[in-house]
Amino acid sequence: MAIKRSGNGKSNNNNDKKTPNKKRQSKKQTNKIETKPSLVRAVATSEDSSEAQIRPNTLSGYIGQKELKETLKIAIAAARGRGEPMDHLLLYGPPGLGKTTMSLIIATEMEVDCKITTAPALERPRDISGLLVNLKPGDILFVDEIHRLNRIAEELLYPAMEDFRLDITIGKGQTSRIRSVPLKPFTLVGATTKVGSISSPLRDRFGLIQRLRFYEIDELTEIVLRTAKLLKYPIEPDAAEEIARRGRGTPRIANRLVRRVRDYVQVQKEPVITQSNAAIALDKYNVDRFGLDWTDRLILSTLIDNFHGGPVGLETIAAATGEDKKTIEEVIEPYLLQIGFLQRTSRGRAVTERARSHLQKS
Ligand SMILES: Nc1ncnc2c1ncn2[C@@H]1O[C@H](COP(=O)(O)OP(=O)(O)OP(=O)(O)O)[C@@H](O)[C@H]1O
Ligand SMILES: [Mg+2]
Repeated sequence: MAIKRSGNGKSNNNNDKKTPNKKRQSKKQTNKIETKPSLVRAVATSEDSSEAQIRPNTLSGYIGQKELKETLKIAIAAARGRGEPMDHLLLYGPPGLGKTTMSLIIATEMEVDCKITTAPALERPRDISGLLVNLKPGDILFVDEIHRLNRIAEELLYPAMEDFRLDITIGKGQTSRIRSVPLKPFTLVGATTKVGSISSPLRDRFGLIQRLRFYEIDELTEIVLRTAKLLKYPIEPDAAEEIARRGRGTPRIANRLVRRVRDYVQVQKEPVITQSNAAIALDKYNVDRFGLDWTDRLILSTLIDNFHGGPVGLETIAAATGEDKKTIEEVIEPYLLQIGFLQRTSRGRAVTERARSHLQKS
């Protein structure tokens, strides 16, 4: 049968054709609900499109990240006092911790607009100059994945950030000349999961550089309670904590787990989310007590069974597990390092005693 071209224009139609037979099959899939993509990957999926409804929109509604909030509170108050835009801000940290959310909150608190874009969308000089000249005084320009900016875009940003000036090159070769266009003062908020990949001239132009850290269980518990309330499903405090513990320190994941548990409990016709029905639901979704899924456990057990626990290089882990190297490095590994299941040494990654005992128990 002929394959129809892009039914809905979604980029993942490739996967639809390949996944069924190519993807690894879990050894123990019995009684597990097949979920794809994994519920505990922090990168946003199309399923998370409802995120906007549960995003906090004030600084006081933003749970956790105490130091970040303190710093920004001062920066916002000072900028407002002077009647100037806030300093340029670089936010970095793993996906799903609240970078975009924070940027929108700053715009609300500063009472300005926030234009959102992402570095790969700024390929040609006119992409970025178009955005810059259209900013109103004080506006925020949010550039996601800022480590992926190309050189030309970066160089256009330097005078824009420093002097609110756009230097446009007109003509080519020896007859080319530069025309400077004044810009309205604005705030650039850059977000990245890979701060090490940002060139130092760009990094140096940010007045504020702030890291977002994984959330503590009590902070995530508060987020879970808030989300359940917004979803209008009763939840017991113990249940919120159970979900939070499996949320990998990441609000996006915790919120996703709340929605899945709500679905399960609703279908079971249980009026309240309790610790026990939340635990049963999440076990069925194959998310264990530490928020690990099948892939996390595969990586850890491959290291233990095939490499005496390591240390092993990233390339080797990727080859041995069939997982993408970038996904391991940027999405899977940060949390495993954070909870002390993996260690990074100069010779590669090694499994810790803590991970071994967790795998034995589960
Ligand atoms: N501090 C917080 N309090 C409550 N909810 C939060 C908080 N931070 C994030 N969230 C929730 O988590 C979701 C993901 O956050 P956000 O999109 O801001 O993450 P991000 O860091 O921009 O991720 P990415 O790196 O993938 O762009 C939001 O929709 C929001 O509902
Ligand atoms: Mg974001």
